[in-house]
Amino acid sequence: MKDIKRIELRELFGSEKQQSLIGSEICVKGWVRTKRGNKNVSFIALNDGGCMQNLQVVAEASNFEEELIKRITTGACLRVNGILSPSQGKGQSIELQATEIQIYGEADVNSYPLQKKGHSLEFLRDIAHLRPRTNTFSAVFRVRHAMAFAIHKYFNDRGFFYWHSPLITASDCEGAGEMFQVTTLDLENLPKDKQGNVDYSKDFYGKRTSLTVSGQLEGELGATALGKIYTFGPTFRAENSNTPRHLSEFWMIEPEMAFFEIEDNMELAEDFIKYLVRYALDNCKEDLDFLCQMYDKELLERLQFVVEHDFVRLTYTEAIDILEKSGAKFEYPVHWGVDLQSEHERYLVEKHFKAPVILTDYPKEIKAFYMKQNDDGKTVRGMDVLFPVIGEIIGGSQREESIDKLLARMDEVGIEPKDMQWYLDTRRFGSAPHSGFGLGFERLLLFVTGMSNIRDVIPFPRFPKNANY
Ligand code: 4AD
Ligand code: MG
Repeated sequence: MKDIKRIELRELFGSEKQQSLIGSEICVKGWVRTKRGNKNVSFIALNDGGCMQNLQVVAEASNFEEELIKRITTGACLRVNGILSPSQGKGQSIELQATEIQIYGEADVNSYPLQKKGHSLEFLRDIAHLRPRTNTFSAVFRVRHAMAFAIHKYFNDRGFFYWHSPLITASDCEGAGEMFQVTTLDLENLPKDKQGNVDYSKDFYGKRTSLTVSGQLEGELGATALGKIYTFGPTFRAENSNTPRHLSEFWMIEPEMAFFEIEDNMELAEDFIKYLVRYALDNCKEDLDFLCQMYDKELLERLQFVVEHDFVRLTYTEAIDILEKSGAKFEYPVHWGVDLQSEHERYLVEKHFKAPVILTDYPKEIKAFYMKQNDDGKTVRGMDVLFPVIGEIIGGSQREESIDKLLARMDEVGIEPKDMQWYLDTRRFGSAPHSGFGLGFERLLLFVTGMSNIRDVIPFPRFPKNANY
């Protein structure tokens, strides 16, 4: 076979170069999406994953061994040399008249599971190791990449530093006790102290440790040193939530800024999300068009709406008032003091305001210990950003900078100051007003891709009773 430098399909479809290549022999590589034809000619749709579009490869039977053509089936991997030509058929402007074909790897028709188009998302979830080869999932994961890139660009362009909080930690940031323990102790034969409790001094770190639920606390150390930081990494929650919005391993973006008050924090959150949505509209058009057409006809409209409209801002107390007066029947009744359920959040966003909402000033009892306390003694300067369909997409707050108030709150919720000396040092030495928030990366992707289950926007989802691959 002639040794010709491979051209990627993204480049072939995306460039002006295409016209100048017409008539010349090129080399492409990829996987067969479909093959159709008759005894004289085969039409092979080839995809290399870099873009949505397939290249139509035309193989005249007279040019190839019959045996070779037979072995080209859906899922097989090919290297093809051929003459790039204007297409005679409908549905594409160019095609490749194959001169030489090498089969890198066959895919047995009887056992390769991705035979027909239009497999259900449920079916594909059970073969998550192969689903990236479908149009839907390759589109979702290309958008996922684009959003990750845009996140780094957004912060880098604005003077934030990418900060790496540890994944293994001894502190429970959110205080919800939903941590996965990390240990090298022999679970069949645990060392015990005199009182009969597990002796963690014998554990790998000499104390009890877990996977982090949030990088925020260490992020605050970064912000009170470098000014503005952001984390972007995996976080882990052992909450037994089997919902389309929860994962036990998810990625979170957590900016933390010195000298930001809650208003600045809200400003940033709104600008950040709008930037990301606009970035997707500008850079992922082909993939979003496909997802819009296949799964969610209103997707593009909804994205456009978010970019163009102000988020509504109100307090928790005002929101409770609206919900109480709404006359709507909720599964969980509302009154001042309850933690809002997604049905309440969605009512506010979808029915009442018909716009994204930022709620602030929650009762302190339902929020974490680090939030700045308001003068009313009842509420804290927390903020949640609520989105259509998804509910909470961002959670954040201004942080309590007074060491006395912080210690008092820690005492109320039962956090030992001696375990948090390192954190308290941010308040003890040069304490600064500061704020931050956490954006759930997969919740953002649910919104941007229009997918309805969070397990479909991460390559290998982790949830209760599932840790395949
Ligand atoms: O509201 P959360 O728990 O806030 C924090 O962890 C803060 N420490 C963030 C901060 O202020 N730096 O989580 C933040 C966001 C949520 O709004 C949601 O988008 C996402 O993380 N999230 C989840 N996403 C997927 N699966 C889960 N189980 C999630 N739990 C939270
Ligand atoms: Mg929250």
